[in-house]
Amino acid sequence: MCGIVGYIGGKDATPIILNGLRKLEYRGYDSAGIAVLDGDNKIELRRDAGKLDNLCNLVNREPISGNVGIGHTRWATHGEPSARNAHPHIGSTGRVVVVHNGIVENYQELQDELAAEGVEFNSDTDTETIVHLIERYITITGNLEEAVRKTLQQIRGAHGIVVLSADEPDKIIAARIGNAGGVVIGYGENEMFVASDIPAILEQTRKMSFLESRQMAVVTRKGVTVQTLDGKPITPAIQTINWDPIAAEKGEYRHFMQKEIHEQVRSLTDTLAGRVDFDKGLIQLPQLKLTAETARKINKIIITACGTAQHAGLVGKIYIEKIARIPVEVDIASEFRYRDPIIQPGTVVLSISQSGETADTLAAMEEGRQKGAILWSIVNAIGSQAMRVADGYISMQVGPEIGVASTKAFTAPLVDLYMLAVLLADLRGTLPVEQRKKLVNDLRMIPDLAGKCLEHEPEVMSIARDMKDARDALYLGRGINMPIAYEGALKLKEISYIHAEGYPAGEMKHGPIALIDKDMPVIALAPNDPWYEKMASQIEQAKARGGKVIAVATEGDKNVEHLADSCLWVPSIPWMLSPVLTVIPLQMLAYHIASIRGLDVDQPRNLAKSVTVE
Ligand code: F6R
Repeated sequence: MCGIVGYIGGKDATPIILNGLRKLEYRGYDSAGIAVLDGDNKIELRRDAGKLDNLCNLVNREPISGNVGIGHTRWATHGEPSARNAHPHIGSTGRVVVVHNGIVENYQELQDELAAEGVEFNSDTDTETIVHLIERYITITGNLEEAVRKTLQQIRGAHGIVVLSADEPDKIIAARIGNAGGVVIGYGENEMFVASDIPAILEQTRKMSFLESRQMAVVTRKGVTVQTLDGKPITPAIQTINWDPIAAEKGEYRHFMQKEIHEQVRSLTDTLAGRVDFDKGLIQLPQLKLTAETARKINKIIITACGTAQHAGLVGKIYIEKIARIPVEVDIASEFRYRDPIIQPGTVVLSISQSGETADTLAAMEEGRQKGAILWSIVNAIGSQAMRVADGYISMQVGPEIGVASTKAFTAPLVDLYMLAVLLADLRGTLPVEQRKKLVNDLRMIPDLAGKCLEHEPEVMSIARDMKDARDALYLGRGINMPIAYEGALKLKEISYIHAEGYPAGEMKHGPIALIDKDMPVIALAPNDPWYEKMASQIEQAKARGGKVIAVATEGDKNVEHLADSCLWVPSIPWMLSPVLTVIPLQMLAYHIASIRGLDVDQPRNLAKSVTVE
């Protein structure tokens, strides 16, 4: 949820940390702070409420510099967003600072204990208990590393923490417990980096390793030693990250979300690259490690995810059931983990997650693991927990997604799920060769057709201008485009703050029809798919109640053009792949409405990119 950056080396830590925090601002953005060890080994701390710019202005007014430092952008869990609650938190001695991602579940108890020892608290956060505990154990053991280890053994919950002590200025300590977000170690020449996410340090280095749960790293300018909390040495696996740092910048676009919508041509091309052999009509997904024997054993797949990722899963259900004839359940991750799901030998739990760090999704995977499921994931963030704990995974290939509202990390898993369905059916021997070749060949045009959807942006903008003052909106879809109604509504509400409902169109007459009047736009998904006739009739029913209908329709469809008030056009495509296209105008619609309303599209209120708390 929060973003963390740390530096140790020969350069000035301040600009490196602030630049890294800028790349992470999307994770949390209600306050930010930085602590640097100055030339006299004194900790200099700057913190401010609000966006990172406030902190940067503060640092400009009251500069700090040194060769070691840590920084943080916060998304509040305990204690209001304010300067005093911003991280880093400094201990009573003024010699130790901590930044933290996660929640100290037993902080109340620990606070009472520390207060009884005479500790004074200067914030309302749970994190502050960590720094006081570390100081307590430094007094007892005389050793920072040991003190951090003892502290981590005492705090409950999931955590990523980074610690700096003025008395041991040659090191930064980083640790991870559970699934509160990742800890990435970056390797440079006589300098090292620590961060919660790859983009924060990608400009500095491409060589990175990742901490697993219950591991602690002692980072010096020369390198890193990693141990488990029980003291077992670990050799970190250093990976080279190939993401383009420029891809994490806005480029010519006003917002990251707009850029990421446009990047879908590229991300869909990359999604297919190396996985689809169009000549032979074959799919390969090597990281899934799927054999024919396993494919034949599978009797059920449970897709589990949150938000947008769960909507992708709903489309995936149709792919897998239709193509591979394996029963699929789709479960919201936060529900799955608490409903004692039935998992038998041969059940797959497949999680979908852009960040790979969503707490509920990871907990759902854990539930699957406990019950003996085969664990798969479709993940974007390389090295994330959801990728690491899975038996096999599909990597999304979309690069960093910065806008909080997910776009390119929605269309890529749709294609991944389609490819998975074809591969499963093929390995199970249930897919006739000609049919397989046709299904594979249908993928060929996807990136180009996504590009054609984007060409309609000026018309989408004009509809956005008409819709910008709506208070509510109803999104209707059926069959394979029903989840796109959910997704279109979610996009609109999260960035434009207009109330929107996504509904299975057949359910309209069982309730929502009562809402329809001239003031509530109805967005009807009516592309050329097997539910087309039904959707045309829903449009007529909505019109009969005085509704204003905006249809998502296939280019050249005179019938829908005549029925609806306006149309968002998508090119013709085999129906199973239509959701990859129909969602694009809805992403653009939500984007332009929010943008016209002057809202903070990339960082909508109350939302964070990676939800690492329950
Ligand atoms: C909405 C959105 C969220 C995420 C959800 C899961 O635009 O982005 O609904 O899809 O929080 O996040 P990941 O995919 O990181 O697990």
